[in-house]
Amino acid sequence: MNKVYEKVVLAYESIKDRIPFEPKVALVLGSGLGNYADSMKVVSEIDYKDIKDFPISTVVGHAGKFIFGYVKDVPVVCMKGRVHYYEGYSISDVVLPTRLMKMMGAKILFLTNASGGLRKDFNAGDFMMLNDHISVFAPNPLIGPNIEELGTRFPDMTTVYDKDLQDVIRKAAKDNNIDLKEGVYAQLTGPSFESPAEITLLSRLGVDAVGMSTVCEAIAANHMGMKICCISCICNLAAGISPNPLTHEEVFEAGQKAAPLFEKLVTESIINM
Ligand code: HPA
Repeated sequence: MNKVYEKVVLAYESIKDRIPFEPKVALVLGSGLGNYADSMKVVSEIDYKDIKDFPISTVVGHAGKFIFGYVKDVPVVCMKGRVHYYEGYSISDVVLPTRLMKMMGAKILFLTNASGGLRKDFNAGDFMMLNDHISVFAPNPLIGPNIEELGTRFPDMTTVYDKDLQDVIRKAAKDNNIDLKEGVYAQLTGPSFESPAEITLLSRLGVDAVGMSTVCEAIAANHMGMKICCISCICNLAAGISPNPLTHEEVFEAGQKAAPLFEKLVTESIINM
C-alpha cells in the first residue's frame, strides 16, 4: 500500500471504535477561534495524542483534539488545533487529519483560519470567504506517488471552493447582518510573517489575504472530491500595510475578539449546508 495512505489507514484504525457517528461536516478551527466547540452539543472527543502517529501541534493556542458534536441537527467533527508545515512536519502529515476526516465519512470540509489582510478596505476582525487560492508558495501535498484510493493524479482545480456552499455562507452573513468580504487567499510557509516587499508582490499577484495554512488542506480535500468552503478571519493588516510590527499574540487576540460573530456565521452556515 502507498506509505502515506497506509499511515492514514492506521490512524483511522487506531480510533475507529471511538468515532460516534458519520460526520457530515469536518470543521477546522484556526488560531484563536478554537473555542467554537463550546457552542456545539458535544458527544465525544478524541485527543490527537491517542491517534497512531498523528501530527501534534506545537503552537500556543492550538490545542489538539477532534470534537464530535451536533450543530443543531448536523453531525460535525471539529478539529480543535491543526499542524502547520512550519512546525517541521512533512506536507503529507499536515494533510493527514483532512484525509482522516474524509475516512470518517465527512463530505464537506469547512476550513477557517487567521490571516493578514492586503486590501485597503479590510480591517482587523473582518471575515473573508475564499473564492479561490494561490498555492504556489507552499509545497503541494499531492507530490509523491498518487494515492489511487483517494483520487486522480492530476486533479482539476477550477472550482475548489464549492459554489453552493459559498451561497449558503453569503446568505448566512446577510441574514445576520455580518459584513462578509470575499477574495483570494495565499498560503505561505511561515513561520516568519511576510516582509512589506513580499506583501507588495502578493498584492500585485491578486492576493487579498495571506496565511500559513488551509490551501494544502483544500488541495488534499479537493483530490478526494470533498465539498470545500473557507472563511478567514482577517486578524491584522499585512506587513507594511499595518503601521505596527506583527505579533502572534495580536493575531490570536484579534481571533478571540472576532469569535462570537465568527461562531454565529459558522453555525448559521452549517445549519443550512
Ligand atoms: N501573515 C501570515 N499569516 C498570518 C498573518 C499574516 O499577516 N496574520 C495571521 N496569520
